[in-house]
Amino acid sequence: MAKAQPASEIDWENLGFNYMDLPYRFLAHYQDGKWDDGELSEDSTLHISEGSTALHYGQADFEGLKAYRTKDGSIQLFRPDQNAKRMHNSCERLLMPPFPEDKFVDAVKSVVKANADYVPPYGTGGTLYLRPLMIGVGGNIGVHPATEYIFTIFAMPVGAYYKGGMTPTKYVTSDYDRAAHHGTGQAKVGGNYAASLLPGDQAHKDGYSDVIYLDPVNHQTLEEVGSANFFGITKDDEFITPKSPSILPSITKFSLLWLAENRLGLKATQGVVDIDDLDKFKEAGACGTAAVISPIGSLTHNGKKHVFYSETEVGPLTKKLYDELTGIQFGDVEAPEGWIQ
Ligand code: COI
Repeated sequence: MAKAQPASEIDWENLGFNYMDLPYRFLAHYQDGKWDDGELSEDSTLHISEGSTALHYGQADFEGLKAYRTKDGSIQLFRPDQNAKRMHNSCERLLMPPFPEDKFVDAVKSVVKANADYVPPYGTGGTLYLRPLMIGVGGNIGVHPATEYIFTIFAMPVGAYYKGGMTPTKYVTSDYDRAAHHGTGQAKVGGNYAASLLPGDQAHKDGYSDVIYLDPVNHQTLEEVGSANFFGITKDDEFITPKSPSILPSITKFSLLWLAENRLGLKATQGVVDIDDLDKFKEAGACGTAAVISPIGSLTHNGKKHVFYSETEVGPLTKKLYDELTGIQFGDVEAPEGWIQ
């Protein structure tokens, strides 16, 4: 895999969401019951045992967060402590040794600083996406947790996750489930995303942006998109996002719940969103670090299409939430205490 082109040659306006092999990543090893301090590395390849638990048994978790270039040229992070905490929880679910949360944030900062030229300029909408990743390594064959682990954080400049950015997307439900209640849906683990590849591919072939999964018990209530959480805004101005034991606790979603209530004056709740009750919503969207906010134009279920606000235009409240969130992330709007580092 070729190294990324020099930052000066990048077309910042047309980045998309693609892997790039940047000059530096953070790399730490867990051996003999403890993490080493880790260090920046120029090597983007990992040489691991064929017996690694990550390869056979999916003992791997990851995170996603972004660094933002502000108007004055400085660089900031949005709630990295929350990613550290969530990765800690994911590690506990897979019996992996969490990387200390304060060191996680320091390591993120060191990767951003080392690759600072690749943080897109303010005004392009681009960001530096950071991917913390932990894998179980070493020779194993029984179904046991590994005794050795690698923790790495690599980065790349990205633009919109969904082509078209704020252009409304079309979703479809699926007969497949992404995660079981009390399975690993709440943890950010590779297996959840592997499970979404086949239904996602089918949805793309059928002309949809992605799948919205239904609850794995009754297939009656909305769960999440897989790469993002769902939210809807009701006709009486309530921001609702699904509450379920099998969806990812999205940091963007929790931020939007707070912003909807405290900055937009909406009622904001986590609750049940019934597939037969979509008429109560005047707007809907998908939210996540990669997706930011992507307005949902329509959702097709059992061949019947439900249009939310519009299939071509963004609803006014979705737009306000987007402006508030991205305004905070890029330093143009005052942030709630502790959200920006
Ligand atoms: C993120 O939003 O950061 C994610 O990890 C979603 C993704 C699988 C691209």
